[in-house]
Amino acid sequence: MMDWTDRHERFFLRQISRRVRLYTEMITTGAILHGDRARLLAFNSDEHPVALQIGGADPAALAECARIGADFGYAEINLNIGCPSDRVQSGDFGACLMAKPEVVARAVAAMGAAVGVPITVKHRIAIDEQEEWPALSRFVRIVAEAGCSHFIVHARKALLQGLSAKENREVPPLRYELVHRLKQQFPVLAVTINGGFTTLDAMAAQLKRVDGVMIGREAYQNPYVLADVDRRFFGQPTPAPTRHEIVERLLGYIEQEVAAGVPLKSITRHILGLFNGQRGARAWRRSLSENAPRFDGGPADAVALLHNAATLVPRDDPTAAAA
Ligand SMILES: Cc1cc2nc3c(=O)[nH]c(=O)nc-3n(C[C@H](O)[C@H](O)[C@H](O)COP(=O)(O)O)c2cc1C
Repeated sequence: MMDWTDRHERFFLRQISRRVRLYTEMITTGAILHGDRARLLAFNSDEHPVALQIGGADPAALAECARIGADFGYAEINLNIGCPSDRVQSGDFGACLMAKPEVVARAVAAMGAAVGVPITVKHRIAIDEQEEWPALSRFVRIVAEAGCSHFIVHARKALLQGLSAKENREVPPLRYELVHRLKQQFPVLAVTINGGFTTLDAMAAQLKRVDGVMIGREAYQNPYVLADVDRRFFGQPTPAPTRHEIVERLLGYIEQEVAAGVPLKSITRHILGLFNGQRGARAWRRSLSENAPRFDGGPADAVALLHNAATLVPRDDPTAAAA
């Protein structure tokens, strides 16, 4: 998620679930081709499986970026056809390409020819005046013919005129039934549903109708929601890690990253919500958000800072009231 997630967030989430697939935020072809590629694309191999999400419209540029992403080791290359922001529209990519499935098909074909890893597409059910089911089914049919076999569908329209990017994630109603119909219509395709999921029960119900569920905001704001995913959906016998165990798992990483010059707050900003709903959650958040921005110590001091913040939350206290 642009402006929210980065490699530190992904490493953190990976300590909560070993099995969920993680996606980068959208990175444009322009940034990959002309920007600081190592900074934009480098990741820790412990983050795997991780997919690179690209935004763009030019098939040749997308194919080149897919190749670069595959060389970096990403397990999947995902093309963003769902972003409604003005900046993206002015570059003629993102959600506005819902109206041009032939362009998306050419891009997918070029990307598929460039790499061996899967090319997937994330998109909306429709945009603007489009009638939803005809637009959605036509889009998927044409793009599938070009070689895409996994579609991740944000189950609401994007209204490109008049709504902000934020409103476009909240205002148009969610229409899960169209995503279910898509799976019925194209049973050989993998269909992942996205939009509005906050509980594992709701996700389990979806998995009876589609192949996967993608979670955005809830995973960021309440990351512990992922803790039981491996046991529940991937058949892993190990119990969910406790929140304190997750902090422990992060310490070595924090030590390493701070030693490499990463500001501590670049990591801690992602973990403020770890104890949400637990007694002491507010003290944890306050301790990190007050101390990490002015931190200028070494790796061992960073570890001590994290330890101190974690001691403000009682251990293993599942019955505790919300802070
Ligand atoms: C701050 C923010 C940034 C986002 N950036 C991206 C992005 O880079 N790529 C993308 O496919 N979706 C992006 N999204 C949309 C989410 O991936 C997701 O489709 C949407 O929030 C609906 O799912 P949710 O209800 O689980 O959050 C972003 C959402 C937010 C809140």
